Amino acid sequence: MHKITITTDDKTIEVRDQYPMIDMSEEHDTSILFGCRDGACGACMIKVIDGAENLTSMGDDEKDFLATMAAEPEERLACQCKVLGDVKIEVSE
Ligand code: FES
Repeated sequence: MHKITITTDDKTIEVRDQYPMIDMSEEHDTSILFGCRDGACGACMIKVIDGAENLTSMGDDEKDFLATMAAEPEERLACQCKVLGDVKIEVSE
């Protein structure tokens, strides 16, 4: 099991390997927002504080979208992430 700590919600949630962050968020009522669920709207932007290497790597579409949003290097789209290890995140403003 892997631990996802969401500092914004003061919550730590345990999930199994390869678990989609979108499913974790819906099951545990986090403050991560979702819109399109397909990497196209930016509603689910999170900032990875620790353990970025423990999320599935970024695909070209996510990279391109984050570039157009002028996202910070540590920001990801939660709907595009599966969990591979412990990670600490906050919800982006
Ligand atoms: S929900 Fe739209 S980009 Fe993730």
